[in-house]
Amino acid sequence: MSKIIIKSKREIALMKEAGIIMIELFDYLESITKEGLTTQYLDKEAGNFIKSKGARPACLGYEGFPANICISLNDTLLHGIGSKKTVLKNGDIISYDVVIEKNGYMVDACRTFGVGEISKENQRLIDVTKECFFEAVKLVKPGIHLGDISHKIEEIAHSYGYSLTEDFGGHGIGKDMHEDPMIMNVGREGSGPILKEGMCLCIEPMVIVGKKDTKILGDGWTVKTVDHSMCAHYENTVVVTSDGYEIITLKREDNNG
Ligand code: MF3
Ligand code: CO
Repeated sequence: MSKIIIKSKREIALMKEAGIIMIELFDYLESITKEGLTTQYLDKEAGNFIKSKGARPACLGYEGFPANICISLNDTLLHGIGSKKTVLKNGDIISYDVVIEKNGYMVDACRTFGVGEISKENQRLIDVTKECFFEAVKLVKPGIHLGDISHKIEEIAHSYGYSLTEDFGGHGIGKDMHEDPMIMNVGREGSGPILKEGMCLCIEPMVIVGKKDTKILGDGWTVKTVDHSMCAHYENTVVVTSDGYEIITLKREDNNG
């Protein structure tokens, strides 16, 4: 049985404070991401930025995770650990997956950016991953089924010939990073729990060019595609409102994509 926690207006206001820091952080990270930098440097910059805003990088120490945020390049789908050995190259694609806690509440979001000049194929992958999110989020309002979101993500990604991981998905969020429900990126319309006002959901398409299979490396965290095909990830924290949704990790003017 999934137990989806409904948040009060007060709790949502606290989550929005963390959301504002997330928005500023992505602007900052996008502006500094350049070839020649190490992913360890970028991880430290992100951690320092979050702390300078009176907040906490919540991935650090979560089940032993050793970095401030997750930084995943190219064929790494998730949970990459910044390293001084990993240097950004022109043409790489880099995802920053970040959880910020402020006042006891969390938000979780992810962006994939290009480093320098990226190929048309990689740009299309990034664009489609965003499109999956924005088409799915448009459905969100009280009364729809969770499976409607999953189905829409699947429909869009598959229409471009891409795959979606079934090993990981989105989730609820609040006082905890991962709350019910699990939000698969594939699924059937009309299946799963019905959404209600006050639910806070992380919707996070993870799109793969080749086959959907993933493997976890020996560090216990880094998730790569088995066939080494490229992948992209896009995520926001979304609040179900009385008549729709609000994306609290995105600027208001960007709320419609
Ligand atoms: N955004 C990631 C997720 O939802 C963050 C968890 S990674 C960890 O899975 F580092 F914190 F474990
Ligand atoms: Co997440």
